Amino acid sequence: MKNILVTGGAGFIGSNFVHLMLGKYDDIQVVVYDKLTYAGNPDNLAPVVDNPRYHFQQGDICDAATVDKVMQQYDIDTIVNFAAETHVDRSLMEPGGFIQTDVYGTFVLLEAAKKYEIERYHQIGTDEVYGEVIEGRSMETDRLHTRSPYSAAKAGGDLMCLAYYTSFGVPVTITRGSNNIGPYQYPEKVVPVFITNAMDDQPLPLYGDGLQMRDYQHVADHCEGIDTVLRQGQPGEIYNLGTGVETTNIKMTKLILKLLNKPESLIQPITDRPGHDRRYALDCSKVRALGWQSRHNFEQAIESTVKWYVDNEDWWRKIKSGQHYQAYYERQYAGREIG
Ligand code: NAD
Ligand code: TYD
Repeated sequence: MKNILVTGGAGFIGSNFVHLMLGKYDDIQVVVYDKLTYAGNPDNLAPVVDNPRYHFQQGDICDAATVDKVMQQYDIDTIVNFAAETHVDRSLMEPGGFIQTDVYGTFVLLEAAKKYEIERYHQIGTDEVYGEVIEGRSMETDRLHTRSPYSAAKAGGDLMCLAYYTSFGVPVTITRGSNNIGPYQYPEKVVPVFITNAMDDQPLPLYGDGLQMRDYQHVADHCEGIDTVLRQGQPGEIYNLGTGVETTNIKMTKLILKLLNKPESLIQPITDRPGHDRRYALDCSKVRALGWQSRHNFEQAIESTVKWYVDNEDWWRKIKSGQHYQAYYERQYAGREIG
């Protein structure tokens, strides 16, 4: 693993992964390939722009010709695919782009992996493909029960990866991560929306009864887990990646408010998301057997995330003051208040 193509590397998890890899290893080149959608942000990569082992190419993973050019130009031997449309609520508004990028885009990258006989193709997957899990924990062998257009598109990507392993011997691995939090997360996902709204004394729009459960893990732990699977995971295998501990949204919300010293009266219940998955829960024993385990528990992950948003107001104010964000926020939340 010398020349790594990180697709979607200008997004939240991808940029954290780039920082991790360039800091941890001095014998690798990292090429970020990113379309720079609303979620792709060159500011996320500002700390590495002067690193001679870092390169950037703007492009769409659905564009086979440009993908091919980059594969050749940088002699790519490893692809780590973070590129995706990622927000469930947007997938309820406009599902088409999810199918295009998350399924067709994955296929284009797998074709490149096959043509150039690369050492590893790694797909960043999600626990959402298992659907809601009311009791017990999802194992990698469980059947997929997708319920949102986002999770269905991600499942399509995963299945295409497994097909390329079985049919063509492409050395594919997949990780299925739980909800990430930490630096550079676009403020549409719940934790950065709630932190930044609370800092501005704005309402925190909580869906339904707030008793839905998610396994919120720190992005640094997730990225370490991906690196572990890249180096030690077996081709053709799937690895769940999370803390293995779930928390209700209301508990997460109250902790954010407490850390920012803001009143709980800022919580604004709103109408629930259609098809809202009640609970995700992962069994992570397979990846733990490779020696990985998360370093942050829930409280530590939330605390360090709150601190980052407090210390980096310029980063998120630039996004939130933009026309794109404000139009999205209005479309997503207007008129949904209950009580
Ligand atoms: P993000 O939305 O912050 O970033 C996505 C990145 O992909 C952006 O930089 C965007 O510009 C780029 N992109 C989108 N479409 C593209 C295309 N067609 N071609 C090239 N680049 C494109 O997402 P994230 O939260 O960092 O998620 C990264 C990956 O991790 C996704 O595959 C997501 O499904 C998965 N995942 C996310 C979470 C989470 O909690 N955020 C949890 C588990 C898995
Ligand atoms: P989100 O960050 O969108 O991630 P996902 O739905 O992919 O898990 O949402 C996390 C949880 O927070 C989920 O149960 C939905 C809930 N939520 C709210 O209550 N209010 C919000 O404004 C958002 C965006 C999410």
